[in-house]
Amino acid sequence: MTEPSPLPPVLVTRRLAPGVLERLTPFCAVTLHDDDLPMGRAELLEAVAGKAAVVTTLDDVVDAEFLDAAGPGLRLVANHAVGTHNVDLAACAARAVPVSNTPGVLTEATADMAWALLLAATRRLGEGERWLRSGRPWAWAPNFLLGMELSGTPLGILGMGRIGQAVARRAAAFGMPVGYHNRTRPADDAEDGPRWLPLDELLAQSQVLVVTCPLNAGTRHLLDAERLARLPAGAVVVSMTAGVVDEEALAAALDSGALFAAAVDNFECEPAVPAALLAQERAVLAPHLGSSTVRTRQAMGGLAVDNVLAVLAGRDPVTPVAPAGARG
Ligand code: DGY
Repeated sequence: MTEPSPLPPVLVTRRLAPGVLERLTPFCAVTLHDDDLPMGRAELLEAVAGKAAVVTTLDDVVDAEFLDAAGPGLRLVANHAVGTHNVDLAACAARAVPVSNTPGVLTEATADMAWALLLAATRRLGEGERWLRSGRPWAWAPNFLLGMELSGTPLGILGMGRIGQAVARRAAAFGMPVGYHNRTRPADDAEDGPRWLPLDELLAQSQVLVVTCPLNAGTRHLLDAERLARLPAGAVVVSMTAGVVDEEALAAALDSGALFAAAVDNFECEPAVPAALLAQERAVLAPHLGSSTVRTRQAMGGLAVDNVLAVLAGRDPVTPVAPAGARG
């Protein structure tokens, strides 16, 4: 008969970045789902039973059923993400199970990715690459795959949190004037910095629009067909938050030629990508890569581990999520 481990049992639902798991194993009896793809639901519910803490990712739905399966010993849900839309925060609060996330550490990587997508969309990199790989004939020509120039082009940022601000900082180097919209208007803006605008004005002025606002009940499908139609003709939309831009409406706006191009980093029903978007040559589509650098994934994993170790040592989580949700 094997003796039960004296260490608290912890479930980690996904393979972690290099060096992260090693920080947990001396202190916990870790059950690791050693894969980059998620567990099936039944396997997840079985694996979480009796755990003291669980490190989850955005594909793991943490709801009443999950919490029931875990049982009364669960002391923390450490979400390995800044977003928490996979977690029913009210259900966790009702059972007094704290939730933590990983704010702050993925700001720069995500802003870099927004710019990678912005540049790829405005300069038609996806189309160009597909063209070459397909073996189609091509030659340098004055009208071949013409893109949009950025210098002097108005950039709009929907959601001026940490990531929005990091996107704006990079815009200065490209010579783009920046407007932005947040639900709450700041007392004032710096004289020569980004300017707050009402949403409709921001849309009307943004030749390039980057969406970074958090997904919540107030922002779900905020950019629907009607609002997308308020963008200038030939605008470019870069979506860094799933669910804020209506993906079908975005595909339709590309299809009609109303938009010049679009880029999307994460999707409402991942891993599914709408066929209508896949069909658009002018859509640059990325499999949720915003935070995917070694440094950032190590920092996110490290923060998840810090939260687990703090709670198991009887302290508060380092980065707790308020029941209303948080994003940075
Ligand atoms: C998050 O942490 O919410 C991001 O979407 C992961 O890149």
